[in-house]
Amino acid sequence: MSLLYRTILRPALFLQDSEKAHRRLISSLSVTSRSRFLMSLTGNLYGSPELPVKLFGLDFPNPLGIAAGIDKNGEAVPAWQSIGFGFSEIGGVTLHDQLGNPRPRMFRATAEKALVNRMGFNNIGAELIHDKLSDWKERGLWPGAPVGINLGKSKITSLEDAPKDYAGSMEILWNHADFFVINVSSPNTIGLRELQQSRRLDSILELCQTINLKCSEKNGKRPKSLLVKIAPELDDYQLKEILELIPKHNLQGIVATNTTTKRPDTNNSRCKAVYDQEGGLSGLPLKDTSTEVIRKIYRMTGGKIPIIGVGGIFNDEDAWEKITAGASLIQLYTGLVFEGPSIARSIMTGLKKRVKEAGFETITEAVGINA
Ligand SMILES: Cc1cc2nc3c(=O)[nH]c(=O)nc-3n(C[C@H](O)[C@H](O)[C@H](O)COP(=O)(O)O)c2cc1C
Repeated sequence: MSLLYRTILRPALFLQDSEKAHRRLISSLSVTSRSRFLMSLTGNLYGSPELPVKLFGLDFPNPLGIAAGIDKNGEAVPAWQSIGFGFSEIGGVTLHDQLGNPRPRMFRATAEKALVNRMGFNNIGAELIHDKLSDWKERGLWPGAPVGINLGKSKITSLEDAPKDYAGSMEILWNHADFFVINVSSPNTIGLRELQQSRRLDSILELCQTINLKCSEKNGKRPKSLLVKIAPELDDYQLKEILELIPKHNLQGIVATNTTTKRPDTNNSRCKAVYDQEGGLSGLPLKDTSTEVIRKIYRMTGGKIPIIGVGGIFNDEDAWEKITAGASLIQLYTGLVFEGPSIARSIMTGLKKRVKEAGFETITEAVGINA
């Protein structure tokens, strides 16, 4: 199937503007999501072998999820598991609906397996996403695999009011998330990365955890796990400051990393033209940087804080590198664009083999062995 994708489907898709091609993928998965027949068909074609992980009190059928940004509005929530993913992260969701930046805003550097995007949190807003997610539940189509929700800050909200924006979305979406990711690292909303500063992040986490506890009491359920997603460019001091907030706010993990504003050297003129675009770079050129951030966090925390590793995963070797550097779970976005819908099955088949060859019973035993 991967050969079919690479030789026929991908060239056809890549003739289109990258956002349009992505829209097509989401629309077809949204249609699939509504039909039990199509879901079981895709499950047969693309489903992954089980490689279970227990984390945050949740059961993940396998450690590979879709990264934030793929399904911004929760349009294909049921389908991700049927194409082999062990969890999904919906969003980035903002409190207010917004169109994002003008198009074009997503660019492919095909020869170097990279994307540059400056989407700017285009999404229908927390209220409508709540309705969308409620609809999946009411139709009995909610997946068995965990669903995380990635929260961003609305463009119209000032940095000072950011805590209310994040906590407002959390309150609206609380019942639908298995865990929340506070995204303070997208490069495409002016000032957002400043929210990684300890003082600013502290007040966001404070208010989010207050709302989390309030919702937990109101609903008679345990509080949701809260994670923070960071940029790959943080220096050691900035990283240390963020990690120091973990015990204070009972954070359950770190998502490392978001896209980078740095650019690699290249002799390829088409890639150079893409790299000259403003925005965040993802895919292969981000791979090693994000793995090093994972390794650093694992070492700095003595492996005590779960890490979701993301950045440049295309195959089981990349996935194994992230896991053995310290990631308990992994995610991808750009890999799906370049490798197609069979990517999860292919990675999980390879990972399962690697676990066996290493003499482990579970994938969790491999976490951090090369940190
Ligand atoms: C088009 C696009 C949109 C994205 N949107 C978000 C987002 O809304 N929130 C977020 O935390 N990360 C977002 N990301 C970052 C990804 O979740 C991921 O961290 C990054 O792309 C690195 O992974 P990859 O190399 O597998 O793509 C986006 C990435 C892309 C390419």
